Amino acid sequence: TDADDLAHLIRNAHRVVVFTGAGISTESGIPDFRSPGGVWSKMKPIMFQDFVASRDARREAWTRVFNRTAGWTGASPNAGHYAVAQLVEAGKVTSVITQNVDNLHQDSGVPDSKVIEVHGNASYAKCLTCGKRYELEALRHHWEADEDITCMFCTGLIKTATISFGQAMPEDEMARATEEALLADLFLVLGSSLVVYPAASLPLVAKKAGSNLAIINREATEQDPYADLVLNTDIGPLMSAVMGRL
Ligand code: OAD
Ligand code: ZN
Repeated sequence: TDADDLAHLIRNAHRVVVFTGAGISTESGIPDFRSPGGVWSKMKPIMFQDFVASRDARREAWTRVFNRTAGWTGASPNAGHYAVAQLVEAGKVTSVITQNVDNLHQDSGVPDSKVIEVHGNASYAKCLTCGKRYELEALRHHWEADEDITCMFCTGLIKTATISFGQAMPEDEMARATEEALLADLFLVLGSSLVVYPAASLPLVAKKAGSNLAIINREATEQDPYADLVLNTDIGPLMSAVMGRL
C-alpha cells in the first residue's frame, strides 16, 4: 500500500528532512493558495514593493491581518503535523523546512530550533528596518485608528514577519535549509505545489546530493519525475497509517 511504501523509505533513512507547504494545513481548516477556493483565487498577493511604497497597500495588508480575511484564526495542528512532530521527537526527522507561516509545526510540538521557516511567520510582526518584533494584537489599535503602523524605535515600517512576493528570502533560513537538504537521505515533501522558487529548489538540491525524494501531494507536481516515491493522497490519513507501521 501507499503507507507501506512510505514507511519503508522512512525506516531505511537516517536523516529525514520534511518540507511542507500549505497542503499540510488544509486539514486544520486553513485554505491553501492554489487549489480551487484557495487564497489566490480570492485575493491578489500584495507585492513587497507596493507595501513599501503605498500607504493604501499597507492599509489593505493590515486589514487582511486584522479581519482575518485569509481565514485561519485559532487553527490547531492536525494528524499530519503530529506525525511529523513524533518523527522529530524520535530523532528520525532532523528538521522541518516549511513554507507555511501558520506556526502549526511549533504548535504541534516541534522545537523552534528544528523548524526552518523559509517564508516567515504570520503570527507576529517585525520592523522592516531594525527587526524589532511586535505582537499583532499590540498593533491592532493603530489599524482601528487608520494610522500607518511604524516602529516606535526607528520609525521604520512594520509588516507581518512573512516573506511577500518581491521581498528577499531570509538568508539564514535559506542557508540552513540548503544545508539540511544537502545532508538528507530522505527528503519528504508534504503538501506543496512546488511552484514557488527558490523554496521549491530545495527538493532538487537534496535529490542532486544523493537523497531519496518522496512527494506526498493531492495533485501532481512538476518535480514528480525526479521523485523516488509519489503519492497523490491526503496527508493526515496517510501519515497516521505510516506511523502505525514504523
Ligand atoms: P499551494 O497552494 O501552491 O499548494 C498546496 C498543495 O497541497 C496543492 O498542490 C494541493 O493539491 C495540495 N494539498 C492540499 N491539501 C492537501 C492535503 N490535505 N493532503 C495532500 N495534499 C494537499 O501551496 P504552497 O506550495 O505551500 O508563498 O505554496 C507555496 C507558496 O506560495 C506559499 O508559501 C506562499 C504562496 O504564495 C508566499 O506567500 C511567499
Ligand atoms: Zn524599527
